[in-house]
Amino acid sequence: RGLVVVVDGPSGSGKSTLCRRTAAALGAGYLDTGAYYRAVCWAALEDGVDLAAAAAASSTPGGRDHGSDEAVASLARGLDLRVGTDPERPYVIVRGTDVTAAIRESRISAAVSAVATNLEVRAELIARQRAAIAVQAAERGVVAEGRDLTTVVAPDAAVRVLVVVDEQRRLARRALELHGTSDEAAVERTRDEVVRRDRDDSTVASFTEAADGVAVLDNSGTLEEGVEALLALAAA
Ligand code: CDP
Repeated sequence: RGLVVVVDGPSGSGKSTLCRRTAAALGAGYLDTGAYYRAVCWAALEDGVDLAAAAAASSTPGGRDHGSDEAVASLARGLDLRVGTDPERPYVIVRGTDVTAAIRESRISAAVSAVATNLEVRAELIARQRAAIAVQAAERGVVAEGRDLTTVVAPDAAVRVLVVVDEQRRLARRALELHGTSDEAAVERTRDEVVRRDRDDSTVASFTEAADGVAVLDNSGTLEEGVEALLALAAA
């Protein structure tokens, strides 16, 4: 059996690039679990599900819009979704359409928490992620990343890591991704989106504190330093 490495961390922590590069170095598969939530969000918007109502309801404590919650849960259970595991060429295909780029759009980032806080959606996607990790583990090992892998999806993984990063660095990375620049204005615009999504996500997965047995990796340095640190944890 190949090695299972699972990595959690907040948006903008650089964990995607870090995990892809580390998977490639290990000759292992790569799994982006956030892509599953983004794909369900994309399909829900495509189907005209009222995610805005779900989002508005879910941002009030204890509030859910049960009609749209049930619609999204049943959509998730029946969704034709394929997530690639080649670290050199990740792809996401929904209902035969390549949505690899489309699921990164800001309309998805803005709506995805409404999908990710739906517990029935999580149950379905977690089951699919566990199956995908098991297939990769049996073949060549895997580096998987997300928000709840070290605690919920794969608490028995051989290597569990929480990525943290200097806050200013995190916002700058995200601004560069979203706006193509990390100047001050872009960072400020980014701050609102990042802070809001962290808050919305924090109700379902704790990715700011390392659980017992989870190593903390500070990814504030260069990509090479991060990869070296993760490879060292994988080899330990
Ligand atoms: O790349 P970025 O950090 O912006 O987000 P992502 O990893 O693509 O995840 C997108 C969204 O999916 C997150 O904001 C969470 O709402 C959700 N997610 C989750 O709930 N559990 C995971 N294991 C991974 C992602």
